[in-house]
Amino acid sequence: MCYTLNGDIMIKGIGCDILSIDRVKNIIVATPAFLKRCFSEREIGEYHKRNDISYLASRFAAKEAIVKALSKYEHDLKFIEILNDDDGKPYVLINNKAMPQIQVSISYETDYVVAYAVLSSIL
Ligand SMILES: CC(C)(COP(=O)(O)OP(=O)(O)OC[C@H]1O[C@@H](n2cnc3c(N)ncnc32)[C@H](O)[C@@H]1OP(=O)(O)O)[C@@H](O)C(=O)NCCC(=O)NCCS
Repeated sequence: MCYTLNGDIMIKGIGCDILSIDRVKNIIVATPAFLKRCFSEREIGEYHKRNDISYLASRFAAKEAIVKALSKYEHDLKFIEILNDDDGKPYVLINNKAMPQIQVSISYETDYVVAYAVLSSIL
C-alpha cells in the first residue's frame, strides 16, 4: 500500500528497529564474521575511529529498518551503507549508489539504539 502526502511525494514503505547495544556486543564477540557480513569497509573504518560499539548497533538497526521499509531484501547487509554527511546527518547507499529516496533517522540511549527508515518516491 502507498500513501500520497501532497501529490508530490509518495511514501512507499517505512521501517523501524530498536536494538540492545549489549546484544550487538555479544554477537560481535561470539561471531567475528558478523562484522564483515553486515558492515562495509567504510562503516568498519568509522567504527574503529569512534571506538564505540553503539555505532555498529545503530548502523545495524538502521539497516534492519531499511529492510523493513523495502519489504524484501535478500543480500548481505554490508551492501546497505549508512554514512554521515558534513552536518552529521545520515545518508544511505545501496551497492555504492546513493539512495536519496531512503531517509533514515538514528538515536541513542545508554543501552539501546533506535532507527527509522522511510522509503519514498517523487511522483
Ligand atoms: C543532531 C542532534 C539532533 C542529535 O541529537 P542527540 O540527542 O545529541 O543525539 P541522538 O542520539 O538522538 O542522535 C544522534 C544521531 O543523530 C543523527 N544526526 C546528527 N546530525 C544530524 C543532522 N544534522 N540531521 C539529521 N540527523 C542528524 C546522526 O544519525 C547521529 O548518529 P550517528 O552520528 O551515529 O549517525 C543534536 O545534536 C543537534 O545538533 N541538535 C540541533 C539543535 C541544537 O543545537 N540544540 C541545542 C541548542 S538548544
